[in-house]
Amino acid sequence: VRAREVLGVHSFYARGSNFQIRQPAGSQEFGVTFTDHMLLVRYRGGHWMDPLITSRRPLELDPASSSLQYGLQIFEGLKAYRPDPVGPETEDVVRLFRPQENLQRMYRSAARLALPLFDTGSMLRLIEEYVRIEADWVPVRAPDENFRAVSLYLRPCLISTDARLGVRRAEEALFYVIASPSLGGYYSAANNAGVTLLATEEFVRAWPGGVGDTKCGGNYALSLVAQELAHAEGCHQVLWLDPDRNVTEAGVMNFFAVTSSGEVVTAPLSKGLILPGVMRSAVIQLIEQGRFPPGANHSSWRLVERSLSVDELVQGIEQGRIVEAFGTGTAAMICPVAAVKYRGRTFRLPEASDAKRRLTWQLSRALEHLFFDPDPHFAAHPWIHTV
Ligand code: COI
Repeated sequence: VRAREVLGVHSFYARGSNFQIRQPAGSQEFGVTFTDHMLLVRYRGGHWMDPLITSRRPLELDPASSSLQYGLQIFEGLKAYRPDPVGPETEDVVRLFRPQENLQRMYRSAARLALPLFDTGSMLRLIEEYVRIEADWVPVRAPDENFRAVSLYLRPCLISTDARLGVRRAEEALFYVIASPSLGGYYSAANNAGVTLLATEEFVRAWPGGVGDTKCGGNYALSLVAQELAHAEGCHQVLWLDPDRNVTEAGVMNFFAVTSSGEVVTAPLSKGLILPGVMRSAVIQLIEQGRFPPGANHSSWRLVERSLSVDELVQGIEQGRIVEAFGTGTAAMICPVAAVKYRGRTFRLPEASDAKRRLTWQLSRALEHLFFDPDPHFAAHPWIHTV
């Protein structure tokens, strides 16, 4: 009942009935509306305890917990989609996109922060059960919805509940999952012309030997002041540079630049400075497989993982060698970049004469099929995990 009230008839999946279309009642803002339940698994005495799916409510935490004191916590983000309905046989189907990748990354994040390790397969089975219970919250896409990736965003977390002030490995922890229906883009500006990015040398997100490749809260907390600086300079987000002034990430996304000769450049994972994005790896593989409709571009796209200095980026934009740029992420999906501001100058990417020739358009369409197309070919794709 609450799912129907919050999502609106528009997005609510009414079992066995034709759904009506009207504007969604739910907020379009990312991550402000939550579902009814949460999944909890406690770790104590060297063991994971019995899991529990219970009504969503505040957690009780000792104020000395090292998650609160020292940021001993990690998290993930993945999405559940409801494919476009074709009939009663697909009524209850929900698709998760590459959930194993998220759980494997979470395992690596846990190892990096000395949090308890877990069996990724068992955690995935618990998440499947949780998604089944919350299935009514996975929004339906309206037919006119022109790639709005409506979905249920799942947020698995692992936090230390160890209540000792010594800086030490957590002996007690809590793995939990909450969920939030996502009806719009993470960066709403992306619905229009794309985001503008401020490249700044004042703040650094990651450094060799740090945790730039770990999905921990601290990486996001340290971004806020830089983000405010970007806003003050009239930009939406930060374009993060490494200590050598190479481009790494954009806001909470991985970053890609496309050259006029069809080279698609993104930062390599090898330095440990960027998050190994699940969407990043999907985009890389889609480009490498080259499965785009004929005529999508005058040249075929070639993926290159290499360092791209901010000078090469802005000069490339200015001189017409860089023709497109975009960010990728689970929350943000494929987000076009409109301009980059650096040292007081704004470098504007060219507007598309034909949107369909752009890589951002082609990638969004390829993903749209995987998430929503009821064709069994997409349902059987190895990236799709049906619940
Ligand atoms: C995601 O894309 O899933 C993220 O975790 C980014 C963000 C919402 C913090």
